[in-house]
Amino acid sequence: MHISKNKNYLVIYYLITQSKLILLILKENMSNDEIENVVQQNCHLIQEYLIEVASKQFRAPVYNLQLTATQTKQRFGASGQLLISDIYYDTEYGENSTNIAFKYFNEEAGALVELKNSIELDFRFKSHPHFATPKLIFASTKDPVLLIYEGINAINYDEIEVTNKASHAGELLAAIHRGNPKPVNKDIYKGLARMIGKYIEATGLEKKISDGLGRSFNKMENAMSGCDPFSDFHQSNVMLSTQDDLINKVYIIDPEFMQKGRFDRLEDVGTFFAFQLLNEYKETKSIKNGLREVNEFLKAYQRLNLIQQGLTWKQMYPNGCPLSFFVAQWAIMDSLDKSMRLQKVITDPELLLQIKFADYILFTDPFKFPE
Ligand SMILES: Nc1ncnc2c1ncn2[C@@H]1O[C@H](COP(=O)(O)OP(=O)(O)O)[C@@H](O)[C@H]1O
Ligand SMILES: [Mg+2]
Repeated sequence: MHISKNKNYLVIYYLITQSKLILLILKENMSNDEIENVVQQNCHLIQEYLIEVASKQFRAPVYNLQLTATQTKQRFGASGQLLISDIYYDTEYGENSTNIAFKYFNEEAGALVELKNSIELDFRFKSHPHFATPKLIFASTKDPVLLIYEGINAINYDEIEVTNKASHAGELLAAIHRGNPKPVNKDIYKGLARMIGKYIEATGLEKKISDGLGRSFNKMENAMSGCDPFSDFHQSNVMLSTQDDLINKVYIIDPEFMQKGRFDRLEDVGTFFAFQLLNEYKETKSIKNGLREVNEFLKAYQRLNLIQQGLTWKQMYPNGCPLSFFVAQWAIMDSLDKSMRLQKVITDPELLLQIKFADYILFTDPFKFPE
């Protein structure tokens, strides 16, 4: 038996001989060949799915399908890692390929929650066929914890240039938030605002920002805006597919943090736009373009919310729009996260700029609800 000195190979070899799934041992420094090897060893798990896809592609029942090659991209995320793979195969009708996403989790709980939430989302999208989650092909809850999804032929919201994308994302969020609005549990945000004050003491902006957060926070008074939030509604979790330069399908992925409760629905909107607005502010000291996109998003959200719940933004928030609270809070919390991860002080120029951005947002309070 040949045993390679390369540690990665050793573990893979062992696991293959044990005919187990493999990938927990994937490391950042694995070569492309090693990664492809791992993907190919896992392809038997999706053989039936491949046959189904190929039968659709060739419009005839496929009985013989052989894997010919794979081409894989690796992405490292917060709760695990993802392999996005083009799988090439040969059949009695000729060659073709399809895309598959292998999502590996560090913990079983994360995968189970993501599964449960995907089912919940599919239920909410029943009357909206242009919203979807990727189809699940295979799930394993241990050794390794792995969900295999269809690879969707779509591009992340933040990476695609296409008109009306903010409208589609706004309607998508309204569909996700579907359900009778409840009063917001403001305690969640009160504690946060206090913690933020302490953290930014050294910047000299503490009083101004605390006052600004307070002003915005007060707009949640009497608001009927509580909902079950998506909670990780980043632009990279919304994917758009297009046909002839028009959006024809909107996907939401990665629902691991969706939860039940009485969170303010603008928190998801803040999460969605804060990073984009911060980047525009860094470059131009203004947020003109982003603001236009936010307005388009809020308008579309309202359009669907009116159909679903019969409520406008102004009816849900009689005291005005507290979106500044959530955008500012995101910028500050993100800088706090960076300062801990990178061991930097809050007065470090990059981190301080995020605090100044929060101050700018709270001071100018630029967000208005559409009519
Ligand atoms: N089913 C899929 N098909 C195609 N690309 C995907 C799929 N799932 C995820 N991706 C791509 O991988 C990225 C990260 O996946 P995601 O599930 O959001 O994991 P993370 O927890 O790392 O954010 C996404 O932003 C998207 O570009
Ligand atoms: Mg994600």
